[in-house]
Amino acid sequence: RDLEGTASFEAIVAADQKIEPRDVMPEAYRKGLIRQIAQHAHSEIIGMQPEGNWITRAPSLRRKAILLAKVQDEAGHGLYLYAAAETLGVTRDELTEALLNGRQKYSSIFNYPTLTWADMGAIGWLVDGAAIVNQVPLCRCSYGPYARAMIRVCKEESFHQRQGYQSLYVLANGSPAQRAMAQDAVDRWWYPSLAMFGPPDTESTHSAQSMEWKIKRFSNDDLRQRFVDMCVPQAEILGLTLPDPDLRWNEERGHYDFTQPDFEELMRVVKGDGPCNRQRMTHRRRAHSDGAWVREAAQAYAEKARAAKGA
Ligand code: ACO
Repeated sequence: RDLEGTASFEAIVAADQKIEPRDVMPEAYRKGLIRQIAQHAHSEIIGMQPEGNWITRAPSLRRKAILLAKVQDEAGHGLYLYAAAETLGVTRDELTEALLNGRQKYSSIFNYPTLTWADMGAIGWLVDGAAIVNQVPLCRCSYGPYARAMIRVCKEESFHQRQGYQSLYVLANGSPAQRAMAQDAVDRWWYPSLAMFGPPDTESTHSAQSMEWKIKRFSNDDLRQRFVDMCVPQAEILGLTLPDPDLRWNEERGHYDFTQPDFEELMRVVKGDGPCNRQRMTHRRRAHSDGAWVREAAQAYAEKARAAKGA
């Protein structure tokens, strides 16, 4: 920044410094960030549901305490992210409304059902693993409040990933029935996890601009490849197979070749037609209206406290 403390948006981005809420920024940058951060926040909040489904049925007190803590962490991630979005001049109420009326989206992955306990392990390993691969680069994103929120989110996310992996490892080394349950969970979560990274680069609407503005640091396809390369040796240690007969090391590329997820399915799920979209939104709307009394009470308390201070 120059002596007056001002620098052009382009110069700040070019110097790999952070854009802060009061800096001048292009309207499209602001709007694009609100879109991505809000979608990310909604994903964390909706993402509490598939795992919340198993809290009462965890196989031990220890597993239950861990799962409860993890789901609470996700609520926390949602809150950091809503707070980051609010710095861009949008209110929490507006964001909530946009989720509830379907104007803003959340990640496709949370529209798949959690059918068995092993899904808790597979989600931790694959879904949280994919989230980390996608989110670690966001710690270097050009928008300060988003980048800083991501640092904390990623630390917690890596704990989530490890607990999932450990849980799946125990099942994979358990009885034949437990092993089969672990394999079935991996078979069902593999492709939806690959789809989390978004459409292929050739069809990604926002990538080019987001990369120019250093919101995104790597493309959807690059991150998907990084995730596959990371998972293959981990699956070997688990002793489980990834459900892709064409998965093999490509010496020339220095990467694994793999079968892409079904991107038409991704778009269907994003548009609202996945296995659990209706259930997830019905639940969220109900939770929101059930919580109205809490918001009203907090508001009344804040007004009373303000009045008392003013008196
Ligand atoms: N689920 C839902 N929508 C998606 C997904 C997905 N997995 N992937 C892409 N989309 C949507 C995009 O939002 C965009 O739609 P829009 O223009 O209506 O917003 C459209 O598909 C085209 O995709 P891209 O142009 O590639 O979108 P973008 O550049 O934003 O990249 C990505 C998508 C990679 C998800 C990016 O937004 C991102 O990194 N977001 C932050 C991370 C995040 O949201 N994670 C949530 C899941 S992880 C978790 O919560 C545990």
